[in-house]
Amino acid sequence: MKYTRKLVVVVLALVMALSLTGLTTAQDVSGDLEIFSWWTGGGEAAGLDALIAKFTEMYPGVNIINSAVAGGSGVNARAVLTTRMLGGDPPDTFQVHAGAELNTLWVKAGRMEPLNDLFEANGWLEQYPEGLLSLISDAEGNIYSVPVNIHRSNVLWYVPGNLEQWGVTVPADWNEFVDTTCPALLAKDVTPIAVGQTWTQAHLWESVALAGLGADGYNGLWNGQTSWTSPEVNAVWDTFGKILDCANSDLNALTWQDASKLVIDGAAAFNVMGDWAAGYYLVDNALEPGTGFAWAASPGTDGVFMMLSDTFGLPKGAPHPDNVRAWLSFIGSAEAQDIFNPLKGSLPANTSAQIGDAALYNAYFQDAYEDWTTNAIVGSQAHGAVAPAAFSDGFLNIIASFQSTKDGVSASAAAAALAIQTGIGG
Ligand code: GAL
Repeated sequence: MKYTRKLVVVVLALVMALSLTGLTTAQDVSGDLEIFSWWTGGGEAAGLDALIAKFTEMYPGVNIINSAVAGGSGVNARAVLTTRMLGGDPPDTFQVHAGAELNTLWVKAGRMEPLNDLFEANGWLEQYPEGLLSLISDAEGNIYSVPVNIHRSNVLWYVPGNLEQWGVTVPADWNEFVDTTCPALLAKDVTPIAVGQTWTQAHLWESVALAGLGADGYNGLWNGQTSWTSPEVNAVWDTFGKILDCANSDLNALTWQDASKLVIDGAAAFNVMGDWAAGYYLVDNALEPGTGFAWAASPGTDGVFMMLSDTFGLPKGAPHPDNVRAWLSFIGSAEAQDIFNPLKGSLPANTSAQIGDAALYNAYFQDAYEDWTTNAIVGSQAHGAVAPAAFSDGFLNIIASFQSTKDGVSASAAAAALAIQTGIGG
């Protein structure tokens, strides 16, 4: 009898401890869990599906609703999300980039639940890099989302055998590309650089800006230290225009996957894209890293890693918060990140994941990890790390009109005005 009472006390204490730490058990959660993202294709959908499969095994009572909205870099998803969030119909959890995209909109508007208890209960305060934690926290130290990865934006992709056949090498900088590589490839009827729809052009722009301004100058665009109307920024537009002249003419009609495919099909020599392209090459196209596809830092950016991180949060008013907390506890774990990232093309954000396991993380990841841990780090504008979504959305219009006018002075002035309007550097 005494023994039974003791047992009850122990069990009760355990249950209390679990609920205090915010950990959930499989029995606790049931019902729906709506996951909102823009991962509908490429290695990205495979990565998300693998996470969902494992989570469903762990929590068989939870019914996942995968509400992914197609459109690279979330251009379409973000618009749908805004309507839902402001219309009082938030999804249970949604994809959002660490940094300004999270903080200057949803956190600032008081729409997110703090998740510090999850981070503490799971030991993540010691397992996530400090710089990343600060991108998902407010000034008071409240943490608002769970990162699943670290992606690199400034990557140049190519196929070594094709370059050899065409007699060109990886350009060290954009001047070499424009003056030497591009004409040599055009003479062989090869598209020098594959480019896709507007957001991929903005993606290319940030790599060109990083090359032209250096890490400090690039950071200055976002902290107000670099003037948008300076001669240096005008030179970036000038170079960018010349690069676009070396691109496929149907650029506005291509998705990022279409543009990535031109390279492996041998129709184009190079493409600048984030390393979700590695996921696409590895998973969708079953290519070998190093031979089927290869990579380098985008021209002129060697030694700098332009980062972004995909995270998921818990919006206030989410219909199934307990299910979300179970999902977030899972996706932040080393185990989940080792399932997801080898498919996604990204590095695990949780430093206790098995990045050292070369069977899991092939040569691409090993190389990216080396750079992530030794390079200077800057944040991506096109993917929400350093600029609010309002800037990034407006910048797409500036890129689109530059494409037809090639007027860098007007583009700079428009970007300067947009920076003021969206609170950059202020
Ligand atoms: C980025 C996102 C990546 C990938 C890419 C292409 O914004 O962070 O995970 O989805 O868009 O869609």
